[in-house]
Amino acid sequence: MSTLFEPFTLRSLTIPNRVWMAPMCQYSAPVTGPDTGAPGDWHLAHYAARATGGTGLILVEATAVAPEGRISPADLGLWNDTQTAAFRRIAGFLAGQGAVPGIQLAHAGRKASTGLPWQGGAPVGPGEHGWQPVGPSPVPFDEGHPVPTELTVDQIALVVQQFARAARRALEAGFRVAEIHGAHGYLIGEFLSPHSNHREDRYGGSFENRVRFALEVVDAVRAVWPDELPLFFRVSATDWLEGAGWTADDTVRLAALLREHGVDLLDVSSGGNAPRVRIPAGPGYQVPFAARVRAETGLAVAAVGLITEAGQAAKILANGEADAVLLGRELLRNPSWARQAAEALGAEVPVPPQYLRSLLRSR
Ligand code: FNR
Repeated sequence: MSTLFEPFTLRSLTIPNRVWMAPMCQYSAPVTGPDTGAPGDWHLAHYAARATGGTGLILVEATAVAPEGRISPADLGLWNDTQTAAFRRIAGFLAGQGAVPGIQLAHAGRKASTGLPWQGGAPVGPGEHGWQPVGPSPVPFDEGHPVPTELTVDQIALVVQQFARAARRALEAGFRVAEIHGAHGYLIGEFLSPHSNHREDRYGGSFENRVRFALEVVDAVRAVWPDELPLFFRVSATDWLEGAGWTADDTVRLAALLREHGVDLLDVSSGGNAPRVRIPAGPGYQVPFAARVRAETGLAVAAVGLITEAGQAAKILANGEADAVLLGRELLRNPSWARQAAEALGAEVPVPPQYLRSLLRSR
């Protein structure tokens, strides 16, 4: 019998199974007015469907800790009471369905202020609800991207506090897992990598200096996040810059530090900090990075990236490569993936009574 549908306990929180939803931006929040950045009907319907589909943990998409930390003007945010109240409705519904509500807290850094992906996703300026992005160094992500404003040390301290405040709001809203977004070339990832961090102060240069901001965010969030509840961190295991930039060795080193600072699980992704790199994408291509962190640090890990088949997911766990799997696009295609995988593997996940007659065995 697969462990995919066995519970997993971190601190005092038991997650009912190990099929989890990866954070995925929906770019569907109002861009102006009092509800700016607040989740609405789309978000409720979207996350609710994955909860009723048997997903054990739902990581709500990258949610900005400050307005200028949004990837696009239509991103979710968690910096005011209106947003907090709107998230409470979603977290409450997910929990009512037996799914653990989690949320990814994010700051987009130099990759902020872009348009909707389905409209090309190019940078947008103040005339299109955009703004001037910030980053560790005045180095743009790519041609055609603005030169970010280099954060001062005082501004860095403010962002750290913004993460902590957003975490407190996430707790108030009913979330039980907080994930800090340190991946994909957004602000924390920008600080980690020498590719994007050219600072010469205590936040740049050596490995210790480049991870300082990430650890300060972790400490500030951990200080407000209850001891009983787990804290996740998402990292890009590599920039895919062939030995340059941030590497898998750096990830293992960071993982050990994150563990000491109270992170309970590393969500291991990759890429996003350098454009046009060659990524050998294929089924489960990021799993080895997660497996290495788990083996070398003992930190719990979740694997993500082109995990689409029940047997494949079960094998990742059976091999001891990860403690859980995160599904992204497959859950967009099929909100009930978890229930169908459970049926295929001879396991069970609770089904809402309204849907009992949908079970294969009830035919
Ligand atoms: C993503 N991804 C992503 N990652 C993240 O850390 N925060 C986010 O908000 C988003 N947003 C997002 C939106 C959409 C539409 C997609 C498709 C992806 C990446 C996602 O979490 C996941 O890591 C990748 O999609 C790879 O997993 P799959 O899709 O191969 O299972």
